Amino acid sequence: MKVFVSPTPEAAAKLMAQHLARAAQAAIKERGGFSVALSGGSTPKLMYSVLKDLELPWAQVQVYFSDERSVGPDSQDSNYRAAKLGLLDHLSLPAAQVHRIEGERDAHAAAADYAALLPPQLDLVLLGMGDDGHTASLFPDTEGLAASGRVVANWVPKLDTWRVSFTFAEINAARERWLLVTGASKAEVLREVQNGMGGIEGHPVEGVQNGLWYLDSAAAAQLKL
Ligand code: 6PG
Repeated sequence: MKVFVSPTPEAAAKLMAQHLARAAQAAIKERGGFSVALSGGSTPKLMYSVLKDLELPWAQVQVYFSDERSVGPDSQDSNYRAAKLGLLDHLSLPAAQVHRIEGERDAHAAAADYAALLPPQLDLVLLGMGDDGHTASLFPDTEGLAASGRVVANWVPKLDTWRVSFTFAEINAARERWLLVTGASKAEVLREVQNGMGGIEGHPVEGVQNGLWYLDSAAAAQLKL
């Protein structure tokens, strides 16, 4: 587990944003472009608030999403909407370079169409972790954990809803995987993840290979580092 621990959530988010800008610049210099999948939930908003003001050649960046709820782009629950308000609206990034998951559609159709528009390999997938160990929309004991292909429509019984999510195959096929996890509520699960206690069924984030973890000290409190 390769980990950066910062004193506060804001510092962890700032470090990730700075590293993201640096990685994008290097990729664009080396390969002429950079593709990144943004994660969902609330934690990324801290990172967006820093990233939006960093120097970054956005004209060469393609933005994707690692998962989406079964809602439209204007919903309060939309991961796309959170990224739009927190980051994308502040950038001169052509709309054609932002590829949202169409959460308002049938999840299976939206998943199939999203898989078809992905590049052969993403440069970076950003992820979070729920306090049950889920990541993207791969929740414990759901069928999506075993899905083949690149994007899956995953029924989440405990939320009584469909989600559209990258599969582990897609997540682990990217050049890199970075996870931003903060807050004391994540500390216990992180300790269990570090010890491999839940397995992928119990703590799906254990299925993320060679991840780079950006933590605050509260989330990292029970880790052996
Ligand atoms: C989602 C996310 C999900 C998120 C975790 C952590 O759509 O909810 O993709 O995997 O990253 O639930 O969410 P918080 O950052 O809000 O704790």
